[in-house]
Amino acid sequence: MDRKLNPEKPSTGKLYVMGVGPGAGDLITVRAARILSGLDVIYTPTGKKGAQSLAHSIIAEYLSPATEVCTYHFLMKADRAAKEAVWDEVAQSLKERVTSGQKVGFITLGDPMLFSTWVFLLKRLNNLRGLEIVPGITSFSAIAAASATPLAMENQTLAVVSCMAPETVLEQALLSHDCIVLMKVYSNFARIRDLLRRHNLLGHALMMADATLPTEQCWRDLDAYSSETKDSGQDLSYFSTILINKNGQLSR
Ligand SMILES: C[S@@+](CC[C@H](N)C(=O)[O-])C[C@H]1O[C@@H](n2cnc3c(N)ncnc32)[C@H](O)[C@@H]1O
Repeated sequence: MDRKLNPEKPSTGKLYVMGVGPGAGDLITVRAARILSGLDVIYTPTGKKGAQSLAHSIIAEYLSPATEVCTYHFLMKADRAAKEAVWDEVAQSLKERVTSGQKVGFITLGDPMLFSTWVFLLKRLNNLRGLEIVPGITSFSAIAAASATPLAMENQTLAVVSCMAPETVLEQALLSHDCIVLMKVYSNFARIRDLLRRHNLLGHALMMADATLPTEQCWRDLDAYSSETKDSGQDLSYFSTILINKNGQLSR
């Protein structure tokens, strides 16, 4: 794929992997904004086939009109082999672009090193010369700031856990840490709420969906969220995260 690109360009291509933050266009770093304005091509992920890339909509204002946009559908629900085939294909395509001398961008929501498809590509690109990873503001940093929830202080500990983890792992995190970030809540909501109730943590938890986007919502009472959804039949956004801080009621 893409072998015909700029055959005359010297081979000084580079891959810039950039975290674009949680959603608001002004929560990307100055470094990422500078790089975005000078790319030959940008790879943007979508979770659903044919859907607009949220990551692309965040950074569209910083892109040069001359930059080619490649949208890739990273399969969310397929089996492992199908996912691996897409990761192989995208990694190969990125490698070929960089080798042909292009400045290539790859964007991820939040930070690229945290629960990101990028990490599967990194494993496939470990011999690539010319790689720069630009950090981004994670969703949970943005949620902590928006809700004025401290994450850890002095000798406290913080755990970041996916709600897809086995119940024993989640319970261990709840028992062992002062502050716990629960990511990938969506279809796990009822199970997580019940777990927090069993551990008397509902009064210390808040959930935020679509943080920093115009559709942002925050629930400081997870039971209130349950009854709201029963009434409206509305699904929880994929972009939903729970913060728990045991050291005091959440203040706002
Ligand atoms: C594949 S992970 C991506 C994490 C991302 N790399 C980061 O640094 O935050 C997707 C999960 O991140 C969380 N997330 C991402 N963006 C969010 C947002 N704007 N508001 C709330 N949660 C968000 C949700 O828990 C979601 O299920």
